[in-house]
Amino acid sequence: MKALPITKNIWWVGAIDWGARHFHGHTYTTKRGTTYNAYLIIDEKITLIDTVYGPFAAEMMERIKTIVPLEKIDIIIANHIEPDHSGALPELLKHCPQAKVYGSAKAGIGLEQHYHLKLDFQTVKTGDKLSLGKRTLTFIEIPMIHWPDSMMSYLVEEQILFSNDAFGQHYATSERFDDEVPQETLMEEAAKYFANILWPFSHLITKRLAEIEQMNLPIRMIATSHGLSWRKNPDKIVEAYQHWAANETKPKVVIAYETMWGATAKMAQKIAEGIADAGVRYELYDVAQADRTEVIYDMFDAKAYIVGSSNHDSGILPNMVSFMEFLKGLHPRNRIGCAFGSYGWSGVAIQKLETILKEAGVEIVQPALSIQYVPDESQLAQCYEFGKKVATLVLNQ
Ligand code: FEO
Repeated sequence: MKALPITKNIWWVGAIDWGARHFHGHTYTTKRGTTYNAYLIIDEKITLIDTVYGPFAAEMMERIKTIVPLEKIDIIIANHIEPDHSGALPELLKHCPQAKVYGSAKAGIGLEQHYHLKLDFQTVKTGDKLSLGKRTLTFIEIPMIHWPDSMMSYLVEEQILFSNDAFGQHYATSERFDDEVPQETLMEEAAKYFANILWPFSHLITKRLAEIEQMNLPIRMIATSHGLSWRKNPDKIVEAYQHWAANETKPKVVIAYETMWGATAKMAQKIAEGIADAGVRYELYDVAQADRTEVIYDMFDAKAYIVGSSNHDSGILPNMVSFMEFLKGLHPRNRIGCAFGSYGWSGVAIQKLETILKEAGVEIVQPALSIQYVPDESQLAQCYEFGKKVATLVLNQ
């Protein structure tokens, strides 16, 4: 376990979680694993930026010890209290009990409520400066990107922005920088991360990015807390965030459904045909089979969502319930959509789907399409027209 230099006297001392396949409980599938990045700054004050997830405390401490003994750490910056960045803090503090911990006011309260420890905690706010000796850190609070305590730290002399969760990716690699990995994979993982975690905070991200721009901080490197850091082209990810946060879309439709005996699936296929014949790209997912993280990633740039479920008892099929609740929490904006499904004797599921879609912020562009039992030829033609209408609206947006 070695520390890896990111520039002179600044070291990556994080952990690589090659085996992670789930994150935030089971809300995010991390098919490429993840990393928890922590950075050690060697100056008159030995400073650690963030820690790692608790089970990886030993890995982080091993890496630090290749540079300095743990008891030499003077300052720990807690940019964010979520356990993937603060979990190793209690174990680390056993070895450097004199270290002062710096973070936002909300971080101070949150750390106490997580770990119930007596910390030497110093509150900082946007614009505060902290001298490390030859270098200076300045702090930028970014509340609700994505927790109330979230903060970034900027190392003035080196022009490095320690951005914590922002600009990260769940992407375990032996490399540490953007220019060392395939760009397509890097941007896919960065977008997936935004879509599944940061999407609900888009409006705040736009605001905070503008505030950071106004601060006129030259940024040579963005050192993230997950995945690769951006040294070749930090502007690339900042510009991508500006576009993503603006909820820009492509002319594309995602159909997401769950079916009990195949009738709703038949409807979905025919709806898809109508979309394709109108000349619009579509993606079709049975959410009982598909990976939700990937479906959301596909919805991230799609203009329209068509959601379907068979009726089951007095509601929607269970995988679709879970999917719709997740989608609702992401608050997609600037989207259109509609609902469909098959039923036996109560079509309540389809109405419920439409309601949740509306609650998610999607503009309903045509009445829900409900078909009793199995669609016949004329009902399949209705499905075809249903899809075609959405595609036409997508093309006219
Ligand atoms: Fe990577 Fe919000 O924790």
